[in-house]
Amino acid sequence: AIERTFSIVKPDAVAANHIGAIYARFESAGLKIVASKMVHLSREKAEGFYAEHKERPFFGALVDFMTSGPIMVQVLEGENAILANREIMGATNPAEAARGTLRSDFATSIDENACHGSDAPESAAREIAYFFGEDEICPRTR
Ligand code: CMP
Repeated sequence: AIERTFSIVKPDAVAANHIGAIYARFESAGLKIVASKMVHLSREKAEGFYAEHKERPFFGALVDFMTSGPIMVQVLEGENAILANREIMGATNPAEAARGTLRSDFATSIDENACHGSDAPESAAREIAYFFGEDEICPRTR
């Protein structure tokens, strides 16, 4: 089925000038970018996004990192977009990510891992709505 998923190019990959290379991977895989913007997260916005990880030992470092510089947030649309994007990204830990994936090619550590993608339809819907109004999403008819 055609799905939408939420994606982030994280501060490490923006700083390394990899926005275009990462967008090219999405497009080459047939995913369409239907919403996109650059934002610099406040601590409050980052903490809200990662609320499910609040009790994890890496939470403080995660919020520090995600607020350290601008990010790109985007909505990707396509056949099985949620799983397709996870395959493009590779494993959370770049040391375990398959060759040719975003994390393998652009990430340096599990903390600075270049990108984020929704893991399920429920989180995709929540994460998209956390960053985009419906009027900011542009359905593609061609
Ligand atoms: P992300 O998909 O953005 O969701 C939470 C982030 O926490 C994750 O990517 C990693 O970058 C980071 N993180 C750091 N340590 C861990 C860990 N042990 N397990 C999962 N995520 C971690």
